[in-house]
Amino acid sequence: MSFGADYNPEQWPREVWDDDIRLMKQANVDVVSIGIFSWARLQPAQDRWDFDWLDELMDLLAQAGIGADLATATASPPAWLVTQHPEVLPVTENGTVLSPGGRQHWRPTSPVFREHALTLVRTLAERYRDHPALVAWHVNNELGCHNLYDYSEDAAAAFRVWLQRRYGTVDRLNRAWSTDFWSQRYQEFDQILPPRTAASFPNPAQQLDFHRFSSDALKEHFIAERDVLRGFTPEVPVTTNFMVMGEVKGMNFADWAEELDFVANDHYRQPVADSREELSFSAATTSSLAQGRPWFLMEHSTSAVNWQPINPPKRPGELQRDSLAHVAHGADAVCYFQWRQSAGGAEKYHSAMVPHAGEDSRLYRSVVELGETLRRLDPVAGSHRRPAQVAVLMDWESWWASELDSHPTEDLRYRPELFAWWLSLLDAGIRADVVQSHQDFSGYDMVVAPVLHMVPAALQKRLEHYVESGGHLVTTFFSGIVDEDDRVWLGGYPGALRALLGIRVEEFAPLTRGEMVVLDDGSTGRLWSEPIDCAADVEILRRYRGGDLDGRAAITRRAHGKGSATYVSTQLDASGRSAILPELVRDTGVIAEVPASLRGRVEVTRRTGETGDFLFVINRTDDVLDISEFPGEPVIGVEQGSKLLDPRAVAVLRES
Ligand code: GAL
Repeated sequence: MSFGADYNPEQWPREVWDDDIRLMKQANVDVVSIGIFSWARLQPAQDRWDFDWLDELMDLLAQAGIGADLATATASPPAWLVTQHPEVLPVTENGTVLSPGGRQHWRPTSPVFREHALTLVRTLAERYRDHPALVAWHVNNELGCHNLYDYSEDAAAAFRVWLQRRYGTVDRLNRAWSTDFWSQRYQEFDQILPPRTAASFPNPAQQLDFHRFSSDALKEHFIAERDVLRGFTPEVPVTTNFMVMGEVKGMNFADWAEELDFVANDHYRQPVADSREELSFSAATTSSLAQGRPWFLMEHSTSAVNWQPINPPKRPGELQRDSLAHVAHGADAVCYFQWRQSAGGAEKYHSAMVPHAGEDSRLYRSVVELGETLRRLDPVAGSHRRPAQVAVLMDWESWWASELDSHPTEDLRYRPELFAWWLSLLDAGIRADVVQSHQDFSGYDMVVAPVLHMVPAALQKRLEHYVESGGHLVTTFFSGIVDEDDRVWLGGYPGALRALLGIRVEEFAPLTRGEMVVLDDGSTGRLWSEPIDCAADVEILRRYRGGDLDGRAAITRRAHGKGSATYVSTQLDASGRSAILPELVRDTGVIAEVPASLRGRVEVTRRTGETGDFLFVINRTDDVLDISEFPGEPVIGVEQGSKLLDPRAVAVLRES
C-alpha cells in the first residue's frame, strides 16, 4: 500500500525540504508526485533550462527511499511560451480567447503547444531515465479539467480531419448528422466547424461528434507524451490522473483506460446528498476502468477543499474512512493533493497532509495514523476486486447523448440515475460492480442499465444474448432510443430494446418540475412517465395510480430465454426502488452479502489475491456497530472477539 501526495517543494525555501522529508518518513509516505506545475521553473525561457533544483529533489527522495511519480510538467505552459505563441490559448464556443494566469491554458490540438510540450517531456525523460527515485511517469495533470472544449481554428482543422477519418465521405457525414434538417447539408469537409455558439440549437450529431473528438484529442495528447516516455524508459509505467467523480463526463475514460499502464484517479467528495456513497460509486467506477485490478488514488483531500462556495472540513474519522473506502474498491495507493498546504496562490485554503498549523495539529496526527493503518494493509496490496453478482452498466456515449439539448426534458442527468440504483442495491446489502458497456457483462446475474439511451445494433444484440442466456436486465426510461448517430430507432420506443422488453411507447410524458406520479404500491416517480402498451407475455409489476395514466403499466418484466428484461418507466423514488428490488432479485440467484440487521448501515466490498480474501466493512453511520456477524480475522478496524466498529470507520477482515 503506497501513501503520498502531490509534492510542490518549489513553493518553499530549501530548508523546508529537509523538514518535509523528515515528516514524510514519520508518516510512512513512500511516493510523491512532483513537477506537476514546474514548467516555468524547469524552462525559464525557450533556450534556458534549470534542472538543479529537481536533481537535488530527486536525490533527496532517493536517499529517503521515497519514490517519485515524476510529472511531465506540461499542465501549465510558462509565460514565455504563451507570450511568444498566443495561438496556443484555447477559445470558448463564443470566441473568447482564454488568457493565461490560471492553469491549463493550452489547446489540445495546437501543433505549437504539442511541439514545445514534447521537447520538455523528451528533456525530462533523457535526464531522469535512470534515476533511482523514478517509479512512474505522470503525464500532464487531469487532462481536460479546464481545456476540454476548445473551439479555436486549430480545433476546427483537427475536427475536420477526425470527421474525415470517421466518415470517409461528406455524404456519409451528411447522413449521420441528418443535415437535410434545417438546410445544413455540407458539400465539403472544409465547410464544417466545431459547434460554436449558433443562432439556435446546434446540430445534435455534430455536438455528439464534438464530444467524441474532444475526448480523443486529449487522449492523443496523452499518447504522444506517453510514447516519448516509453521510448526512453519502456520499463517505467506511465499514467495520468483521471477525474472519475460527480458530473465530470467530458473525457471518455472507459475509452482511455487501456492506454495507461495503470489507472489513476483523483476524487474529491462532491457537494451532493449521499456524498460518502458517491465516493464509493466513483471508486467502483474507477475499478471498472481498471478491470478489477488495483489502481492508484492519485489525489483526494485530507479535509476541506477550496473550490466550493462554502468549504467545511471533514469530520473526525472521515479522513481515514474516505481513504480506506477507495482501498476497499481496489486502490493500492492513497495519495492527496497535496503534501504541504500552500501559503500563497489560489489553493492556499485547500487542506493538505501538513496544514498551515504545522505538524502539531489534529490533521497531521490523523495523517500519521493513516500511514500506520496502510502499513497493516500491506497484505491487501496487489489483490483484485472480487466480482459481484450484480453490475450497474455505464455507457459514456449514452451519458453524452442523453444530456444533449432540445430533448423531452432538460432536467435529466445520466450519472445520478446510475448512482440512484447503485445506492438502492447498496441499501439492500447487495454488492454491485460498475461495468462499462464495451466490457463483457455476461458473467453478471443481473445488470442494471438506467437511461441506456444510445443502443447501437451491436449492443442491442449483446443485451438480447445476455438475457437469452439467463441474464436479468433492468433498464429504465429513455433507453434504447437512438443509434450511434443519435438517430431514433423507429416504430415506437424504447426502440432498440422494444422487442426484448415486449413493450411499446408512442409518446413520452415527461413531468414538469414538482410534478409527480403515484404508483400502485404508493411509491412516487418524478421527471418522466409514459403510456406503455405491453405484449401478451409481459408481466406488469407496478401500475400508475391516478392521473392520465391511471391503471397503465409503470414497471414491466418479460421473461425471455433463460433470463428476463425489466423496464422502469419513471424516476422512482428511493422507497419505490427499495420496494421493487427484492422482486427483481428473486429467482436471479443474487444474494445480499450484508446481514439484515446491518443493511443500509454498512457497505461491504471484497478483494481477493494471493495473500487471501479480504472483506471490507465500511460504517456508513455515526453509530458504533457490532459487526460480529461477519466471520473473519480482523486486519484493521475491529478487535477479534468484540468486533465493534467505530462511527465512520472501516474494518478489514481476512476471510481465508
Ligand atoms: C485537482 C488538481 C490539483 C488541485 C486539486 C484541488 O483538480 O489536479 O492540482 O488543484 O484539484 O482540489
